[in-house]
Amino acid sequence: MCGIFGYVGKKTNAAGMILEGLRLLEYRGYDSWGIATKVKSQNAKVKSFLAVEKHVGKIGDAKVDLPQSALGIGHTRWATHGGVTQENSHPHLDCTKNIAVVHNGIIENYQELKEVLLKKGHSFLSETDTEVFPHLIEEYLASKGETLQGKGFTEAFRLAFNQIKGLNAIVAINADTNEIAAAKTGSPLIIGVSENEFYVASDAIGILKHTNKIVFLEDNQMVMLGKKLRLTKLPEGEELEPAVNTLDWKFEDAIKGRFEHFLLKEIHEQPQVISNIALNYSDQTKKLAKLIKESYGTFLLGCGTASYAGLFGTYLFSSIAKRHVNFSIGSEFNYLENYLTPKSLVIPISQSGETIDIVEPVNRAKQKGSKVASLVNVLGSTLYRQSDFKVLLGAGSEKAVIGTKSFTAMISVLFLTAYTLVKKQKEAKNLLLSAAKNVEEILKEDYTKNIKKLALEFKNKEHIYILGRGLSYATALEATLKIKETTYVHAEGFAGGELKHGVIALIEKGTPVFIIAPNDETFDDIISNAQEVKARGGFIIGIGPRKSDVFDRFLQTRDITEATIIPQVVISQLFAYYLALSRGIKDPDKPRNLAKSVTVK
Ligand code: AGP
Repeated sequence: MCGIFGYVGKKTNAAGMILEGLRLLEYRGYDSWGIATKVKSQNAKVKSFLAVEKHVGKIGDAKVDLPQSALGIGHTRWATHGGVTQENSHPHLDCTKNIAVVHNGIIENYQELKEVLLKKGHSFLSETDTEVFPHLIEEYLASKGETLQGKGFTEAFRLAFNQIKGLNAIVAINADTNEIAAAKTGSPLIIGVSENEFYVASDAIGILKHTNKIVFLEDNQMVMLGKKLRLTKLPEGEELEPAVNTLDWKFEDAIKGRFEHFLLKEIHEQPQVISNIALNYSDQTKKLAKLIKESYGTFLLGCGTASYAGLFGTYLFSSIAKRHVNFSIGSEFNYLENYLTPKSLVIPISQSGETIDIVEPVNRAKQKGSKVASLVNVLGSTLYRQSDFKVLLGAGSEKAVIGTKSFTAMISVLFLTAYTLVKKQKEAKNLLLSAAKNVEEILKEDYTKNIKKLALEFKNKEHIYILGRGLSYATALEATLKIKETTYVHAEGFAGGELKHGVIALIEKGTPVFIIAPNDETFDDIISNAQEVKARGGFIIGIGPRKSDVFDRFLQTRDITEATIIPQVVISQLFAYYLALSRGIKDPDKPRNLAKSVTVK
């Protein structure tokens, strides 16, 4: 969950480009950051050296103070091993200070490697697992001769990478060569290819400003970037032919434009994301529906926001297609998957396609011969490449840590697929287009002002609850996750029927309770729940197409059957965003302790 960016080529402002690239990758982690560049020495005795700068905290408006250079690497950190300190920030160097390394992942065998290196006299400055890697390279370089077959840095890097265990992406430079070495197992690395220059980054978004020609590094592959790109297979180093993709994401997708935050920008992009799926996904959802029909046991998997899309899917396939589709949180599927067979279909849902709690159970499902059909937003991501069939969500790059447009894309694809199962795609298309229209209406100032007012009204509340039944239970869970992760307010979503089984003890005078009330078979029962809450002093906010006397506040949506969840969720996204601002949170794009993609367990 860290951001890596590197450059090698003809431009001499490597440090500035790396800093800009790290800024675009900060959504992946922002505890601290650092850059190392290779600088030609003025001193005749020393050909070149590495200039390094490291800081704790977010990049913000920082400028980097490093000399001109045409080669460098940088890193923005989400701490796994070792606190948030300058010493623990990347890049990490060897004893000679000639090798710099940046890393995303966890080197699971770092303690044993460190002990051996300490015995050999290496000194360490940090508590991180990463720091063993430059010293491993140093050891191999020092051993010279037969082990390196005269290929020095390349061989030393390859041998060092073969020694580490775990899911890692590692990038290194060396003051004595003009190349970047990079390799990965399980954490993303993307190579940008341009005229005699190369970029390496954790996500294409960091590279798009420079080139849209991309090579996706696969697991157990290594690349040397310098005069040319040399791709090899680990552990032995056999040469491979790189596959260059052209990404259709434009750089402007990655910048805020007229919005103050990416979170608000991406909330506003939802009408076109939903419409695009409604109009252009009939073939893909027909194929997905066919796979579901042919399977004996279908399992929707997801984490966080994606898990609520999966939960939504189970209700949807039941109500629209009378089809039993199972659901599991990704991390819990590790303890449920024993019943998988070659006839099973696993449908992992993931924005990033790098979530380790999805990637790992999917690997195991494949070992059991199950088919994997994924809903994923990032082309070339690990999950994208693991899958037998994939539906690209087409939400474009989602930079805010908080998932918004990726969620509505997930449920729109599931919605269209459920209707496809019963040959009603046209009806689904019209309902999704109506949902997109309703979202546009909600995003207009004369509607949003009501949400802003509510956010101000609740800015000092410590607890917020949201009740829903059936499909709206999934909505309640997703809506409260938006509030929790954007505003740090304690919020809980509950199935309405659970109210009297304990939850109602939480209600005090003035406790805000949102009621997700679509015009469906749950309406009467969820209104009864609202009355029970109100009788104990709760303050009731209704969200849905139908008014009720029990509502103290009412945020109306269109009545679009099961698709009503879409405007209801968008209202919760906007409420969370404005509540965060009303509580003085300056940067809702990067909430504390979070990262966009959880690539470590
Ligand atoms: C999204 O709002 C959350 N930050 C988080 O729960 C996210 O949905 C989860 O980590 C799964 O990520 P993925 O969709 O990239 O797999």
